[in-house]
Amino acid sequence: MLQLNKINKSFSQRGIVLDNLDLIINEGDTISIAGPSGSGKTTLLNIIGMLDRPDSGDLIFNGGSILGFNNNEAADYRSRNIGFVFQDHLLLPHLTVRENIVLPLLSRKITGQELSSKLDHSKELMEKIGILSFNDKYPENISGGEAQRVALVRALVNKPSLLLADEPTGSLDKKNAETLCDLLLEMNRLFGISVLVATHSEGLSDRMKMKFRLENGKLLSNLK
Ligand SMILES: Nc1ncnc2c1ncn2[C@@H]1O[C@H](COP(=O)(O)OP(=O)(O)O)[C@@H](O)[C@H]1O
Ligand SMILES: [Mg+2]
Repeated sequence: MLQLNKINKSFSQRGIVLDNLDLIINEGDTISIAGPSGSGKTTLLNIIGMLDRPDSGDLIFNGGSILGFNNNEAADYRSRNIGFVFQDHLLLPHLTVRENIVLPLLSRKITGQELSSKLDHSKELMEKIGILSFNDKYPENISGGEAQRVALVRALVNKPSLLLADEPTGSLDKKNAETLCDLLLEMNRLFGISVLVATHSEGLSDRMKMKFRLENGKLLSNLK
């Protein structure tokens, strides 16, 4: 589905962050990327999500190179194919949970049949991820674990084929972290979404099928 070929990325003050990095993500994969702070995990996820561009290398999505996309095409690729979950939920404080969730559906030209099917899907997600009981509340009135589950629903309403989760449990206690991990895997199982998580958490990383460590700009297989 997505192939990274010899990706290089440097930042002027830091030097090489990604060094001829290769990665193949197939449909339905669950992948973890561990590595110390500053090793380049976020940079890698940003490149996959086309939020940032590599200095060289290629990014192939469904058989075609996507690095030549202009910013509009990149935004379209992102909204159609990629869901993001971050360490902080980034919910908008003046919108209710439900409004936060449907917002991504209003931000591009989704109409008619597609819109109603995605609205139905968002209800199914809210039910499966267990947030229906508080979907009229505002973010400040729900817990951190609940907010992160809302962020997960929001990431999935557009039916992405790949979910990128950057330290998704970094702000959660153990119990909520486990719940979120269970849900990531359930979404993978139910909808076939590929899941790529960057995480410090061994508990989370151990539950993914493919485990990597990002070290010196390269991905190493993280066997224990
Ligand atoms: N936009 C940027 N400009 C300059 N340096 C950056 C930028 N983004 C990341 N870096 C540097 O690249 C390195 C990798 O950062 P990052 O990808 O955030 O690592 P991680 O997510 O593994 O903690 C760090 O040294 C960081 O300071
Ligand atoms: Mg990071």
